[in-house]
Amino acid sequence: MVLVSGRGSNLQALMEAIQRGVIHGRIAAVIANRPGAHALERARRAGVTERLLDHRVFASREAFDRALAALIDEYAPHLVVMAGFMRILTPAFIARFRGRMLNIHPSLLPAFPGLNTHQRAIAAGVSEHGATVHFVTDEVDGGPPVVQARVAVRPGESPETLAARVLAQEHQIFPEAVAWFCSGRLQLVDGLPQLDGRPLERPLQRTED
Ligand code: GRF
Repeated sequence: MVLVSGRGSNLQALMEAIQRGVIHGRIAAVIANRPGAHALERARRAGVTERLLDHRVFASREAFDRALAALIDEYAPHLVVMAGFMRILTPAFIARFRGRMLNIHPSLLPAFPGLNTHQRAIAAGVSEHGATVHFVTDEVDGGPPVVQARVAVRPGESPETLAARVLAQEHQIFPEAVAWFCSGRLQLVDGLPQLDGRPLERPLQRTED
């Protein structure tokens, strides 16, 4: 199950990894909260079931999350992947899918949670930026991290070029983490990710080639 809001390039990377046999699994459905999300078009082209649940027609965040949980439950997925899903979820929703929900965030968490991460990283003058795959828990962009991709910030870099380089890394580490989960190698145990039975006190690190 993949939740999306927009462009869907991470969804595309996941679908391609499934096709190549890197991820042993299938996507039961792609759910978008925004009509016209390009990700829905990508799902349609790949023959994956697409569903739209427009958050604007719900009176409250709780009502939307209840409907979303019910829609997800129709497919009884093992894993819920948030691939550019731009919604803050209620604690009840998160509790229901705890330990089986992964998100990707475009920064080296805990640095730069929230939006406009590339611009903020450049403004802060950091030498490294990147992306983090993490289990979703109550804290926004704060769940236990599994794997990070590190990208060196080049002199004179714009938010756009940095975003593109980080995105290329996202397309590597997200399928990698999802593949681990789908093969039963990755779990959340007592609040800590475990890979092959080994607790990850710190996220695994990948660097740009
Ligand atoms: C990615 O940068 C992801 O890290 C963030 O939203 C963006 C989604 O891009 N959460 P896409 O829709 O997968 O192309």
